[in-house]
Amino acid sequence: MNKKPVIIDCDTGTDDAIAIIAALYSPELDLRAFTTVAGNVELEHTSRNTLNLVRYLGFDTKVAVGAAQPILRRTIIHSGDNTHGDTGLGTLVLPKTDQPFYNQTAVETIYEEALKADGELELIPIGPLTNIAQAIMVHPDLKNLIRRIVFMGGAKYGGNITTTAEFNIWGDPEAARIVFAAGIPLTMVGLDVTLKAALNLQDAADIRRIGTPAADVAADILDFMFERLGRGGEDALMHDALAVGVCINPDLVKMKHYFVDCECSGQYTAGHTFVATNRIFQGEPNCFVCEELDLPAFKAWLHGAIARSKA
Ligand code: RIB
Ligand code: CA
Repeated sequence: MNKKPVIIDCDTGTDDAIAIIAALYSPELDLRAFTTVAGNVELEHTSRNTLNLVRYLGFDTKVAVGAAQPILRRTIIHSGDNTHGDTGLGTLVLPKTDQPFYNQTAVETIYEEALKADGELELIPIGPLTNIAQAIMVHPDLKNLIRRIVFMGGAKYGGNITTTAEFNIWGDPEAARIVFAAGIPLTMVGLDVTLKAALNLQDAADIRRIGTPAADVAADILDFMFERLGRGGEDALMHDALAVGVCINPDLVKMKHYFVDCECSGQYTAGHTFVATNRIFQGEPNCFVCEELDLPAFKAWLHGAIARSKA
């Protein structure tokens, strides 16, 4: 099997952690690095969570630290409403590894791996796009070195952090605008499909029954998500795992090519992904937008990936 060289850029958080587990046990991926960004919680937590999780599961994949702030907006973006708990992994506490972070920044790690992969590298951003945008600005030749970016973010309609914006894009709209304009092939795994990617108690029980440390981490996080739902929070939505799944198997969704840009200046609409679905505005299509989800196929893929932790 030709493994696909990828970097996952994450703001580990609860659903990021499940996405990371699925990616680690997916033989289709050659995981070159994880890069971290502030988002769900502060950078120190998103970075620490990523490194602790990857090392706890026995993998030596490099983890490079990225941006602590969005490009222009000055606030540290984090959910704040306990969507991911104080440190980002709900109530889960992982053993603290004493191994170091990689000795390059996220930007330089992305560039280094892009050069090595000689045009085949794919990026899977599952947090705000700050690192990706900065990498494109610092190394303009990246446009010719990145095969594709499959990102969790945006929405044709609606939002989850405001009524018009999805959290990752809202977290750094200027970064999103740079990515949409870069000319790199894009696949947007937005709320139109991720709001349908909910796991239920039976799915969690099936995962727990796998009986490995990886499965227990995923099941513990799902238990936190169900508790969160019980207090009026978000459902057990696999936003980020779906982006990993689509990178591996695009048949999990149906997608269409549209012109997409990000609203940066609207008082009420900053972070809105404008998807030109009508004839009034016909920009040159630059992004495949996921519109429908094969939920049973996604669940089967996710369970299968986590179950490979038994091998
Ligand atoms: O809107 C969902 C996204 O925001 C996910 O990536 C989740 O982890 C949060 O970062
Ligand atoms: Ca995320």
